[in-house]
Amino acid sequence: MSVSSLRLSTVAKASSAAFNKQFVPAAAVGSARYYSSKVKDLKGRLAELIPEKQEEVKAVRKQFGDKKLGDVTVDMAYGGMRGVKSMIWEGSVLDSEEGIRFRGKTIPECQAQLPKAEGGEEPLPEALFWLLVTGEVPTQEQVKSLSAEWAARASIPSFVQELIDRCPNTLHPMSQFSLAVNALQHDSQFAKAYAKGLNKTQYWDLTYEDSMDLIAKLPLVAARIYRNIYKDGKLPSIEADKDYSYNFSKLLGYADNEDFVELMRLYLTIHSDHEGGNVSAHTTHLVGSALSDPYLSFAAGLNGLAGPLHGLANQEVLRWIMKMRDSLGSTEVSDQQIKDYLWSTLKAGQVVPGYGHAVLRKTDPRYAAQREFALKHLPDDGLFKLVSQVYNIAPGVLTEHGKTKNPYPNVDAHSGVLLQHYGFVEQNYYTVLFGVSRALGVLSQLIWDRALGMPLERPKSYSTEYIKKMFSS
Ligand SMILES: CC(C)(COP(=O)(O)OP(=O)(O)OC[C@H]1O[C@@H](n2cnc3c(N)ncnc32)[C@H](O)[C@@H]1OP(=O)(O)O)[C@@H](O)C(=O)NCCC(=O)NCCS
Repeated sequence: MSVSSLRLSTVAKASSAAFNKQFVPAAAVGSARYYSSKVKDLKGRLAELIPEKQEEVKAVRKQFGDKKLGDVTVDMAYGGMRGVKSMIWEGSVLDSEEGIRFRGKTIPECQAQLPKAEGGEEPLPEALFWLLVTGEVPTQEQVKSLSAEWAARASIPSFVQELIDRCPNTLHPMSQFSLAVNALQHDSQFAKAYAKGLNKTQYWDLTYEDSMDLIAKLPLVAARIYRNIYKDGKLPSIEADKDYSYNFSKLLGYADNEDFVELMRLYLTIHSDHEGGNVSAHTTHLVGSALSDPYLSFAAGLNGLAGPLHGLANQEVLRWIMKMRDSLGSTEVSDQQIKDYLWSTLKAGQVVPGYGHAVLRKTDPRYAAQREFALKHLPDDGLFKLVSQVYNIAPGVLTEHGKTKNPYPNVDAHSGVLLQHYGFVEQNYYTVLFGVSRALGVLSQLIWDRALGMPLERPKSYSTEYIKKMFSS
């Protein structure tokens, strides 16, 4: 009897507590889980895990399929579907008080447990990707092989290079990014195979191949946009034996600064995934549900990330901080001046960028991780001190203002200040870095979507007229 069928037959008899004990992967409750040491590469390990997970999902649906996750009120339908529990997302779950857990691990746990670069202290995003895909902490050797694989898949077709080069510098970097990702779709293995006739059991395989290609190519695409708009348009070559973040930093022109490379490792790790309902994740998943390939799906997600209430907030935060500094004439300002500036933003009917969250109700641990980095590497930076001062004051002002459900900072409140410290001052570009990282989360889920046979998404909608008819009688 196979391990999975043995597990299934056991489940039929199990109580739900015993079921959880058996079925909730150890990774989901924070400890490492067993995996075959014989399999060295990610795809091989994934191929082993998929049948197990398919059986697990089958068993979960059999046992809990008719249980209710919650109710949906009319207000929820009008209110951006906040709190509607209607998606499955394997890589991460967000708790409103505690923040994100990647496959059951908090950010500090990931920082402690995931493999790092030689001499580095921050986790490698390759390791996070492995964790997101498999639920397992990879070995140093497995991470190294993933770095090498991404470096080997990195090149982009010349027509995509030309397409980027022909964009006017005035076209927003995120629009260029999305355009280039759509163009990379030219080489989608999934789309080509589907057109020829593809067996459903192979969907995940080609989604995996496309996702690996796409992730590998993102640094070259993103750096080309950066160097065209802000530098001389020339790109160095990547190094086959170096990690993803080092190579991305090198392409951008910052690899000489080891601290910047470390920041990039942290940045790409913590921006990767924030469960399924946020705009970029949900959009990628939704578009993918039509069997649009990973390029088309991720490009759609990027367009959502480019909105000011989502990923673009990271460029808005630095702009807001700089504007405050300029209008007050210094980074050394009194608490009262900051308070007044916050009120002037709110009274102008604008949001304070970097504060508030649709789900979180506490300081975002991604903010906290970046603050820790700043305290370690740039404690005396003037803008960092200003950001810290705002952190002490803004929650009180937002609470007094009385609108936002969460007066605490989110991930975007800190990232720009770190980047500008290293001379990476081009704020309009910041969301592209977020986009490179977000690919790791949404594409790992897209692979699982296809492996688990997730169907076309099609929620039900009503008109206001219909709602009135439904409830007024
Ligand atoms: C993230 C965000 C979009 C979440 O939106 P949300 O789930 O609707 O948030 P809330 O339920 O708390 O919003 C309730 C009210 O508070 C306001 N509010 C929320 N955050 C605010 C902020 N940072 N500054 C001022 N007002 C804010 C909302 O605009 C809304 O006002 P309205 O009733 O007039 O429409 C929102 O907090 C925001 O706009 N933040 C600033 C942009 C940002 O940092 N985005 C990055 C998110 S990771």
